[in-house]
Amino acid sequence: MKILALFGTRPEAIKMAPVVNELSMDPFFQIKVCVTGQHRKMLDQVLEFFEITPDFDLDIMKFDQDLYDITSRVLLGLREIFKSFKPDMVLVHGDTTTCFAGSLSAFYAQIAVGHIEAGLRTGDLLAPYPEEANRSLTSRLTHIHFAPTEWSRNNLLEENIPANTIFVTGNTVVDALLVAKTKVDQHQDWSFHCYGTARTIVEANKPFVLITGHRRENFGGGFASICGAILELANQYSDLHFIYPLHLNPNVQKPVQQLLNQQSNIHLISPLDYPPFVYLMSRCLFIMTDSGGIQEEAPSLNKSVLVMRETTERPEAMQAGTILLVGTNKDKIIIEAGKLIKQNKTISEDPKVTNPYGDGKASVRIKNILKKWYTGETEN
Ligand code: UD1
Ligand code: UDP
Repeated sequence: MKILALFGTRPEAIKMAPVVNELSMDPFFQIKVCVTGQHRKMLDQVLEFFEITPDFDLDIMKFDQDLYDITSRVLLGLREIFKSFKPDMVLVHGDTTTCFAGSLSAFYAQIAVGHIEAGLRTGDLLAPYPEEANRSLTSRLTHIHFAPTEWSRNNLLEENIPANTIFVTGNTVVDALLVAKTKVDQHQDWSFHCYGTARTIVEANKPFVLITGHRRENFGGGFASICGAILELANQYSDLHFIYPLHLNPNVQKPVQQLLNQQSNIHLISPLDYPPFVYLMSRCLFIMTDSGGIQEEAPSLNKSVLVMRETTERPEAMQAGTILLVGTNKDKIIIEAGKLIKQNKTISEDPKVTNPYGDGKASVRIKNILKKWYTGETEN
């Protein structure tokens, strides 16, 4: 079975890497990897860790690119690749514009699409933006839907996607996390790892809150409010440190640098390689983020997450009690973060908490389903 695995951003690479590595080990598959290069540095960091060398690289990233740039460049770039390598299936992931434009391009070439992390929904086309549209549109073009949970499967059924094309596999992010966690556990000292001004904090085992943020719908007012909350928390809790690996998007860099770089207990650092970031997640007091993937990883590391978004497509973690949706309201963020700081405990103290997103075997399940699909044996 000829497969083209397609991805372009940091989170897609993290979540696709275990699938690529699983399929590569099985001679049933002839797998080639195409990266769009929607991200560059943040993508290459992940490729290096998982030892993946792309067969094709569209190298599309431009400084401060917009959605038209990404969509058109992916669409046209893939046309040429589909002419030279004619896969039986293109595997796409999640909700990025690489994912949607890649599915559309495959559809135009009449190539089947397998969608990993299918069926996540907020029900609001504008939040997250443009991801909710990207993932919904991709579902219309997909032949096999790999839904991470029963909840995501049900979302697809409600949209009249045929049940026999949907498979619940767990989320591959847990597979990836286990690989990184093993590496982290083998090396006890990650303090030499490009933590910038945060290095002394990490080395001295001082308590810190870990922060990330990059959502397009938070640009402008949302970021101003989030930064205002972080600044006030840093003033209020001056013994605590706030470590913030900054996404390379200039729409994130500029406001965050402007608003937060004068405070001595806030550490704005470069995006981290995956294992050192996992190490920081495992060491922090709790996480404040608008990231999707981090909401799925944190339960495996026994960490609470304050989600600085108005909606989430990951309600399973809310039900498990590992995430709390706080939105971008400054006062709400300060109140909820304050509660976690005062409690000073992780969720590990609750033995009932398990990761609702997976068990680390999603990639093997995806591999087995692909084989059955190719040989016409899929029954669901
Ligand atoms: C993208 C995805 C988003 C995903 C996020 C993960 C879309 C529309 N957005 O958002 O769904 O959650 O990635 O991080 O698909 N940049 C660099 N180097 C890098 C990466 C980015 O310089 O390695 C800068 C560039 O100036 C680039 C900008 O960031 O133009 C924005 O990148 P883009 O992929 O368009 O948006 P993200 O906010 O990263
Ligand atoms: N991550 C990382 N280095 C960092 C910040 C995040 O490796 O400095 C990882 C994180 O563990 C998660 C993924 O990147 O697996 C999340 O990516 P991002 O927040 O960019 O995208 P989203 O998940 O929101 O789509």
